[in-house]
Amino acid sequence: MKKILLWFMPSLFILLTVSIGSGHNNSAPSLDCAICHQGDFAPELVSLEGLPETYTPGKRYKLSISVNSDLKSMGDIAGGFALESSAGDILVTDGKNTQLINSILTHTQDGSELRKWNFAWKAPLEKVDVTFTIMAVAANGDFSSTGDIVSAGSFTTKAKK
Ligand code: HEC
Repeated sequence: MKKILLWFMPSLFILLTVSIGSGHNNSAPSLDCAICHQGDFAPELVSLEGLPETYTPGKRYKLSISVNSDLKSMGDIAGGFALESSAGDILVTDGKNTQLINSILTHTQDGSELRKWNFAWKAPLEKVDVTFTIMAVAANGDFSSTGDIVSAGSFTTKAKK
């Protein structure tokens, strides 16, 4: 019985992580990379470019996320990310490298070869403060969740008065 349990528990764990699908090189629609990726944590590496300090309601902005690490990848996989915004619409402008899953923007399989990803955001019509929450991984390309660097950041913008 004990032996069966010993086999059962790890396979259950693998099954669960695969079916939740929250962190693989083809997507990671979860804002908690660090649960599984227990490498170095370096919050300063992630940046969001193109976000104005104040936004015009309803306007569309071109933004990009990057994770600026000098960690070398031993293969093709270089990184991944998840991004969520508290208001407005996230628009996919590069369907090859990014995708939306449950309102979270994340990398695709192709996008995992990058450390910078482009998208657009349509500002909300109501004048609210908006926060973008990002988690990103700079991967070492070993097809595992170890040895990668995890970064996280949040960025805010306010409506123009
Ligand atoms: C539930 C656990 C889990 C979570 C949460 C998770 N990952 Fe992963 N991740 C894994 C596992 C397991 C692998 C190795 C298998 C694979 O590459 O598909 C992996 C691999 C990766 C790789 C390829 C790494 C390499 O060196 O080859 C990237 C990139 C990645 N994850 C990004 C992310 C990002 C970004 C997040 C958060 C937004 C995240 N993961 C959250 C478990 C997770």
